Amino acid sequence: MKRGNQELIVGLDIGTSKVACIVAQARSTGEAEIIGVGQHPSRGLKKGVVVDIESTVQAINRAVQEAELMAGVQIHGAVVGIAGGHIRGYNSHGIVAIKNKEVSNDDLGRVMDAARAIVIPQDQNVIHVLPQEFTIDSQEGVREPIGMSGVRLEAQVHIVTGSISATQNIAKCVERCGLQVQGLVLEQLASADAVLTADEKELGVCLVDIGGGTTDIAIFRDGAVRHTAVIPIAGDQITNDIALGLRTPPVEAEQIKKLYGCALGDLIEQDDDIPVPSVGARPPRTISRRVLNDIIEPRVRELFELIQAELRRTGFEDLVAAGVVLTGGSSRLQGMAELAEEILHLPVRTGEPMHLAGMETVVRAPWHATGVGLVMYGMHNGLAGQAEPVQQPAAATSTVRDEGHRAAAMGGVFGKLRNWVQTSFG
Ligand SMILES: Nc1ncnc2c1ncn2[C@@H]1O[C@H](COP(=O)(O)OP(=O)(O)OP(=O)(O)O)[C@@H](O)[C@H]1O
Ligand SMILES: [Mg+2]
Repeated sequence: MKRGNQELIVGLDIGTSKVACIVAQARSTGEAEIIGVGQHPSRGLKKGVVVDIESTVQAINRAVQEAELMAGVQIHGAVVGIAGGHIRGYNSHGIVAIKNKEVSNDDLGRVMDAARAIVIPQDQNVIHVLPQEFTIDSQEGVREPIGMSGVRLEAQVHIVTGSISATQNIAKCVERCGLQVQGLVLEQLASADAVLTADEKELGVCLVDIGGGTTDIAIFRDGAVRHTAVIPIAGDQITNDIALGLRTPPVEAEQIKKLYGCALGDLIEQDDDIPVPSVGARPPRTISRRVLNDIIEPRVRELFELIQAELRRTGFEDLVAAGVVLTGGSSRLQGMAELAEEILHLPVRTGEPMHLAGMETVVRAPWHATGVGLVMYGMHNGLAGQAEPVQQPAAATSTVRDEGHRAAAMGGVFGKLRNWVQTSFG
């Protein structure tokens, strides 16, 4: 499972708008050398959740095949992203007695188990247990407890849970493509891995990934995840508003949004006329850019007000000193950062994946933050070895994928699901 001396890592971002597959090689310097990227429009998801398995499988297959061809490798497994309105985040803590007056790996395992023992709804399973800090006796704020002396160990953690059926459906789609799920990662945590600096995480920062179906939030402070949330409003709603408001087909509305859309009316200098195709056999019309802004701005305002409400509710509004970092395709909408600053009264920047090498220009964009972040997550958590060089002509990869597809479809999904849910620490 190597290319040269290096292990390969694969990130699979199954989004509402697109499926992206990124193959990378971990460099000893800590950078991810991008060697293959595949992308395909996704139609099988709604608000981050699989609603059509067949078309999701097709999109994954296409994206993976494209990445395989580009990288000249055969992919066997991937670190996969998960999102959607079913995701819940809880802060919890656990306490244990330290066995031999010095914290060992065993004590650490026990305290993490104690912290994750919270009552969650029956239809949810634990996806992450992320350590925030430890307290040994009365010493708070310990980050690396192993080897420290004391009698009582306490762990503060952030627990992420998700619907069992939504998790199983994502796994089913990936396994039907003949791929193993090496890890399942909350999408905003992956994006954060790719775009946030250690200083931002230390000082306090709110990552906001505005995709097609969902807006995913992760708040960091003192180097750890403090809060996660998913808001079911994103680019698709903006497109839908434009389609309804301008009475134009959704495909045209999407195009109009990308070409002429602006989130903040004050930024429109020239009030150009925009051509708008009509539905049915009616002739096309023209409207002014300001009319388009009147449709877009209220929806984006609503989104940032919901984000502000979430920051206030959780008490983090004054604690995210490094401000807000926007990622996801919808962060490309003109005026997005400016409107966010106006509403949130915080510094806002758009985040692009960092610490990259190789074909980095292809993925250095806010909408690739999740895919690259999944690769980074795989690098940081020892999940390499998911691809190997092809021995036969690259065109043969689809046959291999189809065989894998059949084999995987016959079983194994749920046993593996249990495994990575159990092992998905941080
Ligand atoms: N230039 C642009 N201006 C405005 N919106 C854009 C632009 N480019 C892309 N988008 C929007 O970005 C969204 C897709 O973003 P992204 O690729 O991050 O979504 P996704 O990861 O597939 O979805 P999700 O994470 O919500 O499941 C679409 O709604 C698209 O319209
Ligand atoms: Mg996304």
